[in-house]
Amino acid sequence: MNAIDDKDFGTPARHSQTLVTLEIDGVSVTVPAGTSVMRASAEAGINVPKLCATDSLEAFGSCRVCLVEIDGRKGYPASCTTPVEPGMKVRTQTPKLADIRRGMLELYISDHPLDCLTCPTNGNCELQDVAGLVGLREVRYKKGDNHIALKKDESNPYFTYDPSKCIVCNRCVRACEETQGTFALTIDGRGFESRVAAGQNEAFMDSECVSCGACVQACPTATLTEKTVIRIGVAEHSAITTCAYCGVGCAFKAEMKGSEVVRMVPWKDGKANHGHSCVKGRFAWGYATHKDRMLKPMIRKKISDPWQEVSWDEAIAYAASEFRRIQQQHGRDSVGGITSSRCTNEETYLVQKLVRAAFGNNNVDTCARVCHSPTGYGLKQTLGESAGTQTFDSVMDADVIIVIGANPAAAHPVFASQMKRRLRQGAKLIVVDPRSTEMVKGAHYSADYHLKLKPGTNVAVIDALAHVIVTEGLLDEAFIAERCDTASFAAWKAFVARPENSPEAMADVTGVPAEQLRGAARLYAQGGNAAIYYGLGVTEHAQGSTMVMGIANLAMATGNVGRSGVGVNPLRGQNNVQGSCDMGSFPHELPGYRHISDSIVRSEFEAAWGVTLNPEPGLRIPNMFEASLDGSFRGLYVQGEDIVQSDPNTQHVADALSAMECLVVQDIFLNETAKYAHVFLPGSSFLEKDGTFTNAERRISRVRKVMPPKAGYADWEVTQLLANALGYPMNYAHPAEIMAEIAALTPTFRGVTFEKIDRLGSVQWPCNDAAPDGTPIMHIEQFVRGKGRFMITKYVATDEKVTQRFPLILTTGRILSQYNVGAQTRRTENVRWHSEDRLEIHPHDAEERGIREGDWVGIESRSGQTVLRATITENVQPGVVYTTFHFPESGANVITTDNSDWATNCPEYKVTAVQVMPVTQPSAWQKNYQRFNQQQLELARTEVSDA
Ligand code: SF4
Ligand code: SF4
Ligand code: SF4
Ligand code: FES
Repeated sequence: MNAIDDKDFGTPARHSQTLVTLEIDGVSVTVPAGTSVMRASAEAGINVPKLCATDSLEAFGSCRVCLVEIDGRKGYPASCTTPVEPGMKVRTQTPKLADIRRGMLELYISDHPLDCLTCPTNGNCELQDVAGLVGLREVRYKKGDNHIALKKDESNPYFTYDPSKCIVCNRCVRACEETQGTFALTIDGRGFESRVAAGQNEAFMDSECVSCGACVQACPTATLTEKTVIRIGVAEHSAITTCAYCGVGCAFKAEMKGSEVVRMVPWKDGKANHGHSCVKGRFAWGYATHKDRMLKPMIRKKISDPWQEVSWDEAIAYAASEFRRIQQQHGRDSVGGITSSRCTNEETYLVQKLVRAAFGNNNVDTCARVCHSPTGYGLKQTLGESAGTQTFDSVMDADVIIVIGANPAAAHPVFASQMKRRLRQGAKLIVVDPRSTEMVKGAHYSADYHLKLKPGTNVAVIDALAHVIVTEGLLDEAFIAERCDTASFAAWKAFVARPENSPEAMADVTGVPAEQLRGAARLYAQGGNAAIYYGLGVTEHAQGSTMVMGIANLAMATGNVGRSGVGVNPLRGQNNVQGSCDMGSFPHELPGYRHISDSIVRSEFEAAWGVTLNPEPGLRIPNMFEASLDGSFRGLYVQGEDIVQSDPNTQHVADALSAMECLVVQDIFLNETAKYAHVFLPGSSFLEKDGTFTNAERRISRVRKVMPPKAGYADWEVTQLLANALGYPMNYAHPAEIMAEIAALTPTFRGVTFEKIDRLGSVQWPCNDAAPDGTPIMHIEQFVRGKGRFMITKYVATDEKVTQRFPLILTTGRILSQYNVGAQTRRTENVRWHSEDRLEIHPHDAEERGIREGDWVGIESRSGQTVLRATITENVQPGVVYTTFHFPESGANVITTDNSDWATNCPEYKVTAVQVMPVTQPSAWQKNYQRFNQQQLELARTEVSDA
């Protein structure tokens, strides 16, 4: 990694092709037209003092510290708001300018508590720097009215607002508007009275603020300051790394004091986040050092036994001997492994290699099974590659944006901010969602169409949209003729044109009025560049793969693939879900999505790994559970996954795990799955290891170790120890060597090296001889599979029907402050925003059942029953209820069923028929859970305290 350079150029870069040459302090400077004089100076190494300007925000021109002299101009223009002109002659340092600047600074400082020595940002304060820069030595003004006694707002758990230090530069207000798009801040009052206010002069916690940290980042003084900086002080060293939460893959500068994190600062050169962040990546990293971290390996014979702390050697030897014993007794295929989308590419690669080479079978699967496996299948069938087509930045060229079954404001917040910026610029928006999410209406945007469909009818909607496009002549015939397979197109065209696929015919099925479907189809096909973004509301259905193919059909039919501003964009949930799929985590695919039955591909791996590979695909996760219950599958190695909480039909998963003889769980916490384990191997957090994550744009970014692994080993080292103990040698000295092997064996990764990622910052696959610096946008000249293939997408109603007994449809989702199973975010102050899963129910359905706000309600499905508190809201439509699944005791997955996608077994989380009734006590499952959980915590505690 090159030295970390985070110079602030004062105003944003401009990208005009027209170049302008001017002279600044006698130096000739050439910059793109539209660049400010301030930025041009900074690019030439001439730093004009500034306070209200920063290069992440448009110039505002309020502080008057950046004044310059320009030949032929009267007065002293502000360099931040003055664009360059050809031939301009600028002076940034003259005695007069120095006088004016000192005078301005004197005014600021006269109303500032001069407590620099004890100030938390001493040494890291722009006001202090500028005062030094302009040579301020004394303040002549007598102490008059000031703001020094104003009270701090400490309501936010992560940062304080100390108005006594505010210089009213407006940077925070602009950051909240321009960068984050929340518009939570204003400058309240006028003149001397003016101060920053959250909402209607509320505490930050009571306002619209979503705690993204953009204002804290923008503040040049100690007014908005991270509480960790106040507690720990200014950092001593730092490294650039990648957020371990969602699939946006934001880059952060981890600022450290020794091996303690001081703060995570969103990295301005991060290609996925451009210096922005959300509350999770920015602030919710405290879990990494939480007291619940399990740092010692443990073993036990039965899950009712107390855990025994043992050495790493003992734990690894025990796990290996158990796997070998099971294989001898029950056959080679009686064991398997599960890789994690939270771990690095290198770690995931090693787990699947261990399963295939050391276990000698293909019983490896990953948590993508339960989220985006239909994306892999559907996009491979149609476009030829199992990944999204665009960069995030591409959205800035979109004229029409469709969001289907996704709520990026909650699940991919930094990308949502970028999308909202484009919407504020005037892009049109179509939202397809049963709920009214923040994407339907927000600050300064609202959807042109909200297709509020009934859960489970996605395919009917996509077929109806396609019907309109085909029958109203809105196809891009030239694109189709040149780029697509004509036979499959003809068949698809005839299929969607059938009357039963018309919006009118589908209106009853989907619940969406026909004219809305027609309007949305016309807008998508005729509105210019149209981009589709979708999430788990597309994939987690019985027809998940069908819907992904339907989306790809629509994009091809309208020519919306292969350039910026268009495309098919799956919003991946976890940080490395793309990577874990790329790395060969599925039972039928070797790294790079190549089928295990392909003997040529297999022979490459056989030569490199020195083993003979089984040509038969192995077991998927649900098949592993079935096989466990029928006695043929006895041992499982689970790295960084909590299948008990995240997989559907919890009771079934628990029964399957209870039936195993050796469950090895590697995790940073004693998660729900570990409570059924026989061997516990402590995991390492993203701060403790090197490696790479691949985000939803196929962007491979570095994860860099900023502290030693707390339990002694990084996760990849533990897998390596286990492989060696199983008698299969692995001898990597560093994850860079693992990546070298991945690159050698995977055509789309052929050109990827740690050195290249360090040099370029990140790289998007395919990265190989044809694209040495990677591929931001795919399918530009032709589809990866050659001709794009249209697939028939017949709507088939799910088996999960509402009945008199189960009259409501339950659908599930996420919330901004919590992440997935919540193991990390529940161990941070993020619980202040969301401390329990609640059931959202429409007022009409609530009234019918006598349910009031906050009441405990029983939710019963064909699979099970649980109890949550009710939130009454019109965000859900009548007949639909909604909950999140971040807390294990909620048991949201006790009620979800075994139904799954026909092609990939991805569970149908989004459609469960339920009844909801007021109750007074927890469900039987919850009572059992509480008992079991308590017992397991005690079993872990006994031996830890004895040790
Ligand atoms: S933390 Fe983010 S949302 Fe909250 S006020 Fe600051 S910029 Fe706005
Ligand atoms: S809080 Fe900070 S960024 Fe906002 S106006 Fe005050 S000094 Fe400027
Ligand atoms: S948007 Fe995602 S990757 Fe970025 S900081 Fe938030 S959780 Fe992390
Ligand atoms: S930095 Fe230019 S006016 Fe404040």
